[in-house]
Amino acid sequence: MVNTELTLKIARLLKEGGIESARFEAKQIVEFAKTEDQALLLAAKRISGEPLQYLLGFWEFYGLPFYVGEGVLIPRSDTETLVDTALGIIGNAKKKVIDLCSGSGAVAIAVAKNSEANVTALEKSDEAFRFLEKNVELNGATVNCIKGDVFDEHAETYDLILSNPPYIPTKVIDGLSAEVKKEPYMALDGGEDGLDFYKRLTSYWKTCINDGGHLAVEIGYDQRESVSALFEHNGFSDIKIHKDLSGNDRVIVGTVKGKAT
Ligand SMILES: C[S@@+](CC[C@H](N)C(=O)[O-])C[C@H]1O[C@@H](n2cnc3c(N)ncnc32)[C@H](O)[C@@H]1O
Repeated sequence: MVNTELTLKIARLLKEGGIESARFEAKQIVEFAKTEDQALLLAAKRISGEPLQYLLGFWEFYGLPFYVGEGVLIPRSDTETLVDTALGIIGNAKKKVIDLCSGSGAVAIAVAKNSEANVTALEKSDEAFRFLEKNVELNGATVNCIKGDVFDEHAETYDLILSNPPYIPTKVIDGLSAEVKKEPYMALDGGEDGLDFYKRLTSYWKTCINDGGHLAVEIGYDQRESVSALFEHNGFSDIKIHKDLSGNDRVIVGTVKGKAT
């Protein structure tokens, strides 16, 4: 069967199986599969709720390739707003940056590849950490990878701390789509109110930011008020909100000023 016929056949199957972007996904599957049987098998797995990105084993973020698969969050295009924000802050300077809860390394690697910053990435999960290290190598990026927990103490200080942490309230996770629930629970669960990580970042991690430095975090579309209140409560200055391309509040940035050195 020629590729166009196969693509149409798979697109029909995906559409009947309830997949929204059936044509786009069919094209991706047919380009990836080596045989018709493999393409049909991938389509069946896709219909059963497996994310397309896990089936293909890779995904693009900020124009760069990333290995993805079970055990690591699929990088979202919304998160490119955090990278744009970081690059705007860094400019041409050689700033010291850490990406907390780094997952696949999407944010850390995109920042390292597009700036002169000295970038560190910290991730707790064993599975995600393996993807992080492989992605650093795949992209030929210079990123110092640390396997660690953001709730532990940390010795270094930074000019810029970045994070797209888990931010979904625990009770909301059950109601997410089957597809999102294939992603690691640990990448999603932000605690009872979804704010556990923001509380830690704006309090403990603020002490790891150099004077004049910044904290920039990704937030859920409805977390602007609660997270900016944490920034205010912990004494950040110049708190700013950046919207994503869909117009949702997506990133909050705060500055540390007047810290004794
Ligand atoms: C929402 S995902 C974001 C991944 C990546 N930064 C991105 O934007 O695609 C959150 C990440 O935090 C990691 N994580 C969860 N708890 C953690 C902890 N206590 N310390 C460090 N990383 C943690 C998860 O394993 C997951 O990779």
